[in-house]
Amino acid sequence: MDLAAFANRLRKNQRHWRKWARRRHITCYRLYDRDIPEFPLAIDWYQGSVHAQVFARKGLEPLDEAEERLIGEKIREVLQIPGHALAFKTRQRQRGLNQYQKTGESGRPLIVEEGGLRFEVDLYRYLDTGLFLDHRNTRAIVRERAAGKRVLNLFAYTGGFSVYAAAGGAHASVSVDLSNTYQDRTRRNLQLNGFADPRHELVRDDVFSYLDRAVRERRQFGLIVLDPPSFSNSKKMLEILDVQRDHPRLIEACLRLLTPSGELIFSTNRRQFKLDPALEAQTRSEEITRQTLPEDFQRHPPHRCWIFRNA
Ligand SMILES: C[S@@+](CC[C@H](N)C(=O)[O-])C[C@H]1O[C@@H](n2cnc3c(N)ncnc32)[C@H](O)[C@@H]1O
Repeated sequence: MDLAAFANRLRKNQRHWRKWARRRHITCYRLYDRDIPEFPLAIDWYQGSVHAQVFARKGLEPLDEAEERLIGEKIREVLQIPGHALAFKTRQRQRGLNQYQKTGESGRPLIVEEGGLRFEVDLYRYLDTGLFLDHRNTRAIVRERAAGKRVLNLFAYTGGFSVYAAAGGAHASVSVDLSNTYQDRTRRNLQLNGFADPRHELVRDDVFSYLDRAVRERRQFGLIVLDPPSFSNSKKMLEILDVQRDHPRLIEACLRLLTPSGELIFSTNRRQFKLDPALEAQTRSEEITRQTLPEDFQRHPPHRCWIFRNA
């Protein structure tokens, strides 16, 4: 294992991205993204704390625990952070855990800043931190387009898009998610930014049931954000979600809820995702991944994103 090569690359990346981030007032960003195949990690900087996750190695033996320990020590040394500021996670060994389950570590919430707003993240407790950094630009787009609109945030998770919509002057918002834990975090993120207001509503429901009801009640929204997980099954859900199979149905329901000039932002992290050709023919869609994908995520683009309007 060429640890020196890894350390050099990380040092070089840190110099580059720190300068890049400072110029843009960005405090949470990706520092290293599987640059060297022997070291298949994604390393993210969160205002002085570091979230590192190990991915499976293509065609190589997985890293063993001793190797991971050495890599962890190298990360702390290069980035000059104390031991407690590094959250180190191995995705492959936690295969049994789904993304939203606990890691077994106790929670250590941290408040970070993005775009002049505040968000609670937890680098330790779950596999994901509570703020998907690859959607930093998408959140900014939501803020730019939200003024005076009713905004619907589906699969709201910790409410990042809802906070940005409120900051952009949304007239009202509805955040829909199945999980009580995440709805609580959305509530706290809204509160942190001074948007704890009945106009910003939280609905704990299955998105499919919510959409059926909203279409029946002829609800209307000027902006909808649809960012589903690639797959999901939960005891609370009536059916299993597979974004490849289910996106036409989800998008069609959202289009029925849009005001005549309304816009739907749809994003997916599903690898090899293919947008349904029939949907492309029947609606006005525009892929905006070039705008939504931040520079620090271009080495391994994690998402694709589209805007849909009614034809
Ligand atoms: C990938 S995250 C969504 C990311 C989010 N839009 C963001 O950028 O912060 C997945 C979320 O979907 C929720 N979820 C999964 N299946 C669901 C369903 N059928 N109905 C409602 N929420 C669901 C989970 O509870 C979790 O909070």
